[in-house]
Amino acid sequence: MAGIYIHIPFCSKRCTYCDFYTEVAPKLIPSLVDSIIKELHIRKDYLQEQEIQTIYFGGGTPSILNNEQFSKIFEAIFSIYSVNKDAEITFESNPDDLTVDFFDSIRLLPFNRISIGIQSFDNEDLKRINRRHSAQQAIEAVKNAQNAGFTNISIDLIYGLPFQTLQKWEKQLDTALGLQIQHVSAYGLTYEEGTTLWKQRENGKVKQIDDETMNEMYLLLVKKMKENGFEAYEISNFAIRNFRSRHNSSYWKQDAYLGVGPSAHSYDLNSRQWNVASITEYISAIENDTPYFEREDLTLFDRYNDYVMVSLRTSEGIDLAFLEQKFGVELATYCYENIKTFIESNNVIHSDGKLCLNPEGIMISNQILIQLMRV
Ligand SMILES: C[S@@+](CC[C@H](N)C(=O)[O-])C[C@H]1O[C@@H](n2cnc3c(N)ncnc32)[C@H](O)[C@@H]1O
Ligand code: SF4
Repeated sequence: MAGIYIHIPFCSKRCTYCDFYTEVAPKLIPSLVDSIIKELHIRKDYLQEQEIQTIYFGGGTPSILNNEQFSKIFEAIFSIYSVNKDAEITFESNPDDLTVDFFDSIRLLPFNRISIGIQSFDNEDLKRINRRHSAQQAIEAVKNAQNAGFTNISIDLIYGLPFQTLQKWEKQLDTALGLQIQHVSAYGLTYEEGTTLWKQRENGKVKQIDDETMNEMYLLLVKKMKENGFEAYEISNFAIRNFRSRHNSSYWKQDAYLGVGPSAHSYDLNSRQWNVASITEYISAIENDTPYFEREDLTLFDRYNDYVMVSLRTSEGIDLAFLEQKFGVELATYCYENIKTFIESNNVIHSDGKLCLNPEGIMISNQILIQLMRV
């Protein structure tokens, strides 16, 4: 099992909360596409001829690319790699790009899943966080995707926005659930250092929502998703049956993936590699055959920590037999001994050899994880 991630680091304007690596630099799109294609060729052996099960265009804003640019990238991927005929092929998008004309122009591309960054259906909230679309545009974007034949649609929402109340959050969820989509990623707002939002909180322009309200919003999310037939298969991810994100699930299962483009990360089971977070440095390094990434070899403890950190967030939980088989008896025992108090306090459920968080455990997941990490 292996996947390919392609980072498209462009945004036509920046949202106040976001610290993902992106730039407002549309002139660089054509050269970046050429460099991405070159990187796909340079790193053709990275996945050691494993069949590709998922392809994911993330951002930034992949929907900023046009049909010709996507086609060139797909041509490279399909000529270099063996792609499973049922591979999941996703692109992230911003609602204002998703017009009828846009879908018409990309109709021959092999995408079978779309992730739409909506964040909120409240026009005031959208303005405050500097989104470039309205609630109406977001709803139309979903309808346009459905009319274009997409039957696997995910949307991103954020809860805990400044000025959001529990009632307003419930309204967001009702609107989302009325759209007949298959997947929701709902993230609690984080204040990332250096972002505009962070500065607004520093100078008192916005007030962070208290932890208790954040927890109530999360519990409401879990309840409403369950009532509407969505499984909470990861802390922030909800899917109706058979519509989990296969790409993200493969990260959580520690399958290998190749990440191309500025700031993209790759993982081959033994090491991690991350590309330079600069479009111009990336393009120039690829053109001149000079290094464009850093690399870290993973120790047994690194791999154990990664597995525990991601699997505890999922509904599958930590599999004790897998832990022992992959990392040895000593680390499996270490994990069990350190999670015991949370089983006793009923934050973690131990059943069928698996350790899973319940909703109360999710609220203190960081506290639990600290106890499980091995340094
Ligand atoms: C990096 S964005 C890319 C998708 C697309 N550009 C968009 O804006 O919708 C991926 C998702 O991360 C989430 N996100 C980014 N920064 C966040 C933050 N500080 N707190 C919570 N969620 C965040 C948003 O929901 C966003 O849709
Ligand atoms: S949330 Fe999306 S559109 Fe907004 S700055 Fe981040 S990547 Fe760009």
